[in-house]
Amino acid sequence: MSLLVAPSILAADFSKLQKEVEMLNNSAADYIHVDIMDGVFVPNISFGIPVTEAIQRHAKKPLDVHLMIVNPDHYLEAFRNAGADTISVHYEACTHLHRTIQAIHKLGAHAGVAINPHTPIAMLEDIIVDVDLVCVMSVNPGFGGQKFIENTYSKVTRLKELILKKGSSAKIEVDGGVNLDNAQKLGASGADILVAGSFVFSSPDPSLTIATLKKS
Ligand code: DX5
Ligand code: ZN
Repeated sequence: MSLLVAPSILAADFSKLQKEVEMLNNSAADYIHVDIMDGVFVPNISFGIPVTEAIQRHAKKPLDVHLMIVNPDHYLEAFRNAGADTISVHYEACTHLHRTIQAIHKLGAHAGVAINPHTPIAMLEDIIVDVDLVCVMSVNPGFGGQKFIENTYSKVTRLKELILKKGSSAKIEVDGGVNLDNAQKLGASGADILVAGSFVFSSPDPSLTIATLKKS
């Protein structure tokens, strides 16, 4: 079974963003993963709405926007208007997650929930049927290029069990430190979508790396 791949534009060369997006358009990538960091929820700042809009102007693949921000409700509409097809918010940043998921759906986007490495799968029990995607963080969010946390495999397996038990159609995305050493095992554990940033963009042939990840 072929995995879906969402290269993270965070690892691209921003001085030639259009070229990088075009490379992804011509690759086997299924989505373009867009990491939004606010310097509050995570200890780093990436970019925001105008850059997302610029990506969308050239993108031929759906934008998978990962909001690592506090108060995501305030910005859902702006990111939807900037081209987000999927919007994922962090479980840890949402006091009223169910309301936030409803708001994303109301905007016509797919709704995802992202969970930090310390957040148990059990916390998703009463939201899993409402989401289209669960983004399992396999690093602590905030930076590209970090080391994959091995506990992720068992988390993905337990999430898959929960999805089946509840009859949810949510896809499982794994984000952080993904490469060819862990991709196959993640797929076997139940992952549907792999996010990969530095592994793709620091490879000599990013397009080939994307195709290889998909086949792993
Ligand atoms: C981490 C981000 C990830 C990151 C992945 O906070 O959410 O999407 O860009 O980058 P790599 O693949 O380099 O770990
Ligand atoms: Zn991400």
